[in-house]
Amino acid sequence: MSDRPFFSNLKCRECGRLYPKQAIHICEFDFGPLEAAYDYDAIKESISREAIESRPKSMWRYRELLPIDGAPTVGTQVGFTPLVKADRLAARLGVKELYVKNDTVNYPTLSFKDRVVSVALSRARELGFKVVACASTGNLANSVAANAASAGLTSYVLIPSDLERSKVVNSLVYGTNVVGIEGPYDQVNRLCSEIAGKYGWGFVNVNLRPYYAEGSKSMGFEIVEQLGWKTPKHTVIPMASGSLLTKIHKAYTEFAKVGIIDAEPFSVYGAQASGCSPISTALKKGTDIVKPVPKPETIVKSLAIGTPADGYYAIRTMKETGGSAEDVSDEEVIEGIKLLAETEGIFAETAGGTTVACAKKLIESGKLPRDESIVLCITGHGLKTQEAIHDKCGVPRVIKPSLREFEALVADELAGLETAAAS
Ligand SMILES: Cc1ncc(COP(=O)(O)O)c(C=O)c1O
Repeated sequence: MSDRPFFSNLKCRECGRLYPKQAIHICEFDFGPLEAAYDYDAIKESISREAIESRPKSMWRYRELLPIDGAPTVGTQVGFTPLVKADRLAARLGVKELYVKNDTVNYPTLSFKDRVVSVALSRARELGFKVVACASTGNLANSVAANAASAGLTSYVLIPSDLERSKVVNSLVYGTNVVGIEGPYDQVNRLCSEIAGKYGWGFVNVNLRPYYAEGSKSMGFEIVEQLGWKTPKHTVIPMASGSLLTKIHKAYTEFAKVGIIDAEPFSVYGAQASGCSPISTALKKGTDIVKPVPKPETIVKSLAIGTPADGYYAIRTMKETGGSAEDVSDEEVIEGIKLLAETEGIFAETAGGTTVACAKKLIESGKLPRDESIVLCITGHGLKTQEAIHDKCGVPRVIKPSLREFEALVADELAGLETAAAS
């Protein structure tokens, strides 16, 4: 390993001014967002495919490209979720080569948010924070609550008060302080900025945002490694703030920059629900001015951010890579959840249904080619959003514990099975 620090500074995305590695997130000169910057030459000397492959199977095997100074102390087992070759879903969608990056089984809280939280809380500890907090549409709250509990940190999670019951329980159980706010996510976020300013707590997606956001890159690094050190030609990504999309792009380009892979062209595509689609609507209109959605109306609560912090950058990224965006109705989201479950045995939350449904639409419109590799980023587990689907997939057929009743119930199906076996 090189003795030079890999993670060198924070840097304004607009003017490029450098800042010290503190709990700050906005440039004082032009209000541009601050982002982690690295010494790529030093990383190039240290990192290799072999070194990465020799490390434990977690997101921290890419530690040179993650913004902490020492060893990670929170979420050390997060990541390295399966990349599933989704042949049955591919057949249904009419494409040749399809993969599902399955973060429904991310540890410990079953969404990709464990990636961002593990970086944010590891950095929060390095910076000396004792209280950590977040504004959340649900999954982030779950992850902050769980990871703070295991790290012995006090946590506060602020959420819109009308979230799915499972998302709320999945925060409360860890003994965190859950505060429901009467209003949409944007108002939760505004309040969190005020609290962060006044109390100096470590808000993972406010003053710790430059660290938090970088955690999403690990999903992109894993996809490349699991594809045999190749970048997929097309990646479909759900968007709320738009951060995950920009960071998967950053991951693919950083791997080329440090010599892990050859730079090859790729495109990224964003997925949203039509009831809150500020980013895809702007992109489809051909503008990069994102018009806020003051009152999101969709079952896809995890993606319901009306004023997306990284919307402008997500649009730029999609345009620059030759990708695009799509949005779908709540009915299409439910169809997407069922299609993924029935073909691949993966139960995704509403954000996953959105991604599958948007991919289907992009394929049908010819924007996603049928004969090149496609990865769908499935980012959260369906058990967390059961309300969305519980009356949409039928009910069990109930009988007495009797073989006669069972045979009467399945008589037609048995005949069908016998015919199929004989043919
Ligand atoms: C399950 C899930 N997928 C995707 C996203 C989108 O994340 P981002 O805000 O980085 O666009 C979220 C955000 O909360 C989420 O909960």
